[in-house]
Amino acid sequence: MGADKNTRPVLILLGPPGAGKGTQARRLEERFGLVQLSTGDLLRAAVAAGTEAGRAAKAVMEAGGLVSDQIVLDILADRLAEPDVAGGVILDGFPRTTVQAEALDEMLAAHGERVTGAISMEVDDAAMVERIAGRFTCGACGEGYHDSFKPTAVEGVCDACGGTEMKRRADDKAETVAARLEAYHAQTAPLIGYYEGKGLLDRVDAMGDIDAVTEALVVLVERLREPA
Ligand code: AP5
Repeated sequence: MGADKNTRPVLILLGPPGAGKGTQARRLEERFGLVQLSTGDLLRAAVAAGTEAGRAAKAVMEAGGLVSDQIVLDILADRLAEPDVAGGVILDGFPRTTVQAEALDEMLAAHGERVTGAISMEVDDAAMVERIAGRFTCGACGEGYHDSFKPTAVEGVCDACGGTEMKRRADDKAETVAARLEAYHAQTAPLIGYYEGKGLLDRVDAMGDIDAVTEALVVLVERLREPA
């Protein structure tokens, strides 16, 4: 499956919490000039801004459940219409339910567009808890780190921007991670079959180190971006 010449690439990264969707989306964004669009980031921004959607999403996110399809779809539709994403997007954390996947297909079809490809990042649940528990990000630029797998070169100082305020997510506690994994298996994993059935699915072993996973993804994305 390749990209249509006249429409923007719409790539989907599927995978459980901690699979590395955000880490890899940021790398692919730089490499291919696409824009990472994370519904988790959009929802956290709505929570921080105290919007109506953010107030509705806050408790659900803190409990590790999925926010309602309608809230997520409204937020995503607005973001997809902004001019900076006209060159193509990497969807990170969306879609997460069959309702969202079908709505995305309709949203794109209304503009003569379609999903270019979906990549399933395959990992073991046990490793995900360790990945998430050690995760932190720079409060200034959002660069992601891990206590063991990707520490900052100088403790407490962001390699990318020199920022010194590091943040940990409210939903990264062990009990919440278990609920998030459960939600993934019940509601999101079926999307692997959804995209496979459409001939749009590729799989990547995401248990390797961060650079190895990037290399595998780059090969796939280069292939997907070739005109059909
Ligand atoms: P969201 O923000 O999307 O979180 P998530 O899917 O749970 O995924 P994470 O961000 O935890 O993990 P990731 O795969 O991006 O891994 P990362 O690269 O950070 O969603 C949060 C909440 O928002 C949801 O629970 C839900 O409530 C709500 N929500 C969001 N979208 C929604 C939707 N569409 N519908 C309904 N609700 C929605 O990596 C993790 C750590 O591991 C990092 O420290 C990283 O450095 C490290 N790492 C990454 N790759 C590797 C590797 N290969 N080896 C070793 N370490 C690695």
